Amino acid sequence: MVFLLLLIGVAVSVVLLSSLLLRWNEVRYSRKQGLPPGTMGWPLFGETTEFLKQGPSFMKARRLRYGSLFRTHILGCPTVVCMDPELNRHMLQSESHGFVPGYPQSMIDILGRNNIAAVHGPLHRAMRGAMLGLVRPAMIQDCLLPKIDAFMRSHLQGWAGTVVDIQDKTKEMALLSALRQIAGITAGPLSNALKTELYTLVLGTISLPINLPGTSYYQGFQARKKLVSMLEQLIAERRSSDHAHDDMLDALLSGNHGTREKLSDEQIIDLIITLIYSGYETMSTTSMMAVKYLSDHPQALEELRKEHIGIRKLKSPEDAIDYKDFKSMTFTRAVIFETLRLATVVNGLLRKTTQDVEMNGYVIPKGWRIYVYTREINYDLFMYHDPITFNPWRWLEKSMEAHPHFMLFGGGGRMCPGKEVGTAEIATFLHYFVTRYRWEEEGRNAILTFPRVEAANGLHIRVHDY
Ligand code: HEM
Repeated sequence: MVFLLLLIGVAVSVVLLSSLLLRWNEVRYSRKQGLPPGTMGWPLFGETTEFLKQGPSFMKARRLRYGSLFRTHILGCPTVVCMDPELNRHMLQSESHGFVPGYPQSMIDILGRNNIAAVHGPLHRAMRGAMLGLVRPAMIQDCLLPKIDAFMRSHLQGWAGTVVDIQDKTKEMALLSALRQIAGITAGPLSNALKTELYTLVLGTISLPINLPGTSYYQGFQARKKLVSMLEQLIAERRSSDHAHDDMLDALLSGNHGTREKLSDEQIIDLIITLIYSGYETMSTTSMMAVKYLSDHPQALEELRKEHIGIRKLKSPEDAIDYKDFKSMTFTRAVIFETLRLATVVNGLLRKTTQDVEMNGYVIPKGWRIYVYTREINYDLFMYHDPITFNPWRWLEKSMEAHPHFMLFGGGGRMCPGKEVGTAEIATFLHYFVTRYRWEEEGRNAILTFPRVEAANGLHIRVHDY
């Protein structure tokens, strides 16, 4: 009996204490005038657990209750979530009006203080200018596509008769192809060493910033140090050699090829790390999911294969895919965009306010994070008929890429500079994949869709010669 009373006492105290803490947290924030509606959850943790557990349903439930602009506290910061496409577009275009990138501290620390997401104003313009110079159409045509083609030919060699984990293969592809484009690095001890450090670095950027030996953050930071020293060595070798290299590193060191401004070595190193990092997960996930959707939609695969066999027919086997071929791949482009849309490779973008900002009659305080949540646009019934169906043909009907709410690659002054080169790379991967092979999925491969698109235990396919 006493035990039961004690138990009830403890339960009542827990409930009371919890509601007091929740109430205190709400009162603390509601002292600020004009905040959008919403709840802030627990002190310190906010509503992070619910957000991570419920994913997109968390957002949809709050939108239903509070509208498209609401406040919450997730991932360590007071945050305003915006699910209104027009407001999102406006925010991405308003960097100079108080919205700068607001990515987590671990990412900023590990990618370096000059990484493009950490800088704004004139330094951002200089870094972005250099980046755009590296991936402009002439560079894709003359320098990058030949490297991408050579890489894909060798990367996709010898898959017939084996079971491959396409998730592993596309991750490796994104890293190794980038190394080849940046510094002409081909398979060997250097690419292996860089690959190991890059994998560790990526894990560090998505961990809590706890700098203790053994944590992913600590290891990510160590990986960064090793990468920086490898890249410094590479730069020193380039400077002491008379031999010209037709690659991104030479373009950056010389300030030629439209990279416009000459950057410092430190900035070049951070730019290279950012460049690999930015394309890594987006490129690998899109390529993996394209394979998955094509497996599940034979008609789309047939149409895609027809396009690529048509291109190959006009070439000899050793001819590389060139810029004209890439531009003619209209269905392939549609498959890539439809994959990005349906899989929602990018859920949204993070911004931070540099001053109190008024939006839709509310005030977002200085220093708050804004989650420019673009996911739901991908399933908007007005924009996409029957949005949950994989239908690449929809991209051929009207110019969806020009739609003001097309945000698969972001928007405004930070719109992805890698859009075309990334699309060309996935297109070249698909070219060799569908013209060389047919395949079927091996076993059941669970795909997680939130917070990242990921095949929990890999995506295994059995591959045969076509
Ligand atoms: C399917 C492939 C890709 C997708 C879906 C994608 C998506 C995006 C998105 C949504 C942004 C906007 C981020 C923001 O506003 O905060 C972005 C920015 C960026 N992307 Fe991509 N990306 C892809 C491939 C690439 C590739 C291959 C590269 C490198 C060659 C790259 C380099 C960058 C860089 C440097 C930025 C930052 C631009 C800036 O802040 O000015 N991306 N990307």
